[in-house]
Amino acid sequence: MNSSLSATAAESAIDTHSPRVISISSGKGGVGKTFVSVNLAAHAAAQGQKVLLIDADLGLANVDVMLGLHTTGSIRDLLTDGCNLEDLIVPCPQGFDVLPGGSGLYELTNLNVREQQTILDTLREAGRNYDLILIDTAAGIGDNVLYFASASETALVVLTPDPTSLTDAYALIKVMSQQRDVRRFMVIVNQTDEIDGHITFKRLLSVSDRYLDVYLDYVGYVPQHMDVRKSIQRQKLLIHNGSDLSRHLEKLFDTLIARPRDNSRSAGLQFFWERSLAASLDDDDEVVDNVALQGNQQ
Ligand SMILES: Nc1ncnc2c1ncn2[C@@H]1O[C@H](COP(=O)(O)OP(=O)(O)OP(=O)(O)O)[C@@H](O)[C@H]1O
Ligand SMILES: [Mg+2]
Repeated sequence: MNSSLSATAAESAIDTHSPRVISISSGKGGVGKTFVSVNLAAHAAAQGQKVLLIDADLGLANVDVMLGLHTTGSIRDLLTDGCNLEDLIVPCPQGFDVLPGGSGLYELTNLNVREQQTILDTLREAGRNYDLILIDTAAGIGDNVLYFASASETALVVLTPDPTSLTDAYALIKVMSQQRDVRRFMVIVNQTDEIDGHITFKRLLSVSDRYLDVYLDYVGYVPQHMDVRKSIQRQKLLIHNGSDLSRHLEKLFDTLIARPRDNSRSAGLQFFWERSLAASLDDDDEVVDNVALQGNQQ
């Protein structure tokens, strides 16, 4: 039980049958979102959770590529008569299910409201069968990313200590909070060590605290390691392979999974329908405070 939450308030507010929905996003591309997503999915599945990983990215190293899966369908097929979600979901040997997005998912925000409703109703229904739904999004602040982030209980932001990654992560958090009312973010700093991970997070935190109304939760760091690239090339997961890096990831993901659920956003995939359609983007193109982010923030 989550000791940090008032038990009765939390229990009454959280529908225990609603899956926990976490979107995995980044400001800059290529920072390790998909690597984190697939390994987190496998770890949660190994703990007995029923996990669905939704691939909402069209990047080169997709979920299906990383897992060596052969996928054909696209979520857009749901608009075709006779196509069920079960036809699209791919159970993978690592113990969790994958929903390949394909171009259909990427274009979801361009569909008309009726088409969106059809797809989102199907997703919401299917979501009830899962404990945890992870959404591996594209990088950046495109409509699609914001759409999924606002549909999630928690947004997990992945970044590296690279200054552009930091700046872009801040921009992502800013847009998500100001345009989509996402207030709580988990943060993982990838390709770093303990000290630089902390420094990077503190930079992000100090600027966010100053300019934004958000709560950032540092989950931890992932070291830079050549085995990551090897595991991706071999289409094999790194987690549970007995290595030190695997043990590090297991601890990190245990920490993440143990975080209390957000009872104000715990309605599962119904957010897709209720929040996303209600949200509208304004063309607010405010400039990120780069100077503050790159400056002496400690
Ligand atoms: N901890 C790490 N150590 C070493 N290399 C890493 C690490 N994490 C990621 N990489 C490298 O970065 C590459 C990009 O990772 P990944 O595809 O997970 O990023 P992404 O954020 O999903 O990218 P995109 O924005 O294109 O979707 C990987 O192919 C891998 O080579
Ligand atoms: Mg990716």
